[in-house]
Amino acid sequence: MLEPKLIELPKIIDERGNLSFVESHSHIPFSISRVYTIYDVPGGEHRPGHAYKHNEEFIIALSGSFNVVVRTLQGEKTFHLNRSYYGLYIPSMAWRSFNNFSTNSVCMVLASLPYDPSDYIRNEYDFLDSMPLGPGS
Ligand code: TYD
Repeated sequence: MLEPKLIELPKIIDERGNLSFVESHSHIPFSISRVYTIYDVPGGEHRPGHAYKHNEEFIIALSGSFNVVVRTLQGEKTFHLNRSYYGLYIPSMAWRSFNNFSTNSVCMVLASLPYDPSDYIRNEYDFLDSMPLGPGS
């Protein structure tokens, strides 16, 4: 089973400005179908959690910083993202939320699937219930 993990990206050091890149299947374990950004976030803001049944994500802090809290069968972990040369891989069936956005931070998310509201699990009890060791098992 795939785990949430930080992935370091190639970093081309250049006095004109550094450059990093990400390629499907070389750096992240899925093909990118969609890219979305979260921006103009008021400092200190949080976004409530959800999980995806099938979608996988790779999250990069393009500017500023924020935390991503991820809960899976293995437990809960908080990842602090603050640079463009690494990101956080999140498998499907992981409960994830954001908090502590710095003012003017920009979050870029690479997603494995097109937007599909039916792929979301928005209720934490439904999520826990769908886990192999969830309360309803
Ligand atoms: P959502 O994924 O629910 O973000 P959060 O849980 O952090 O609030 O997305 C917020 C809104 O944006 C929701 O109305 C759906 C819409 N949306 C799209 O239309 N396409 C997308 O790719 C994403 C990620 C969201």
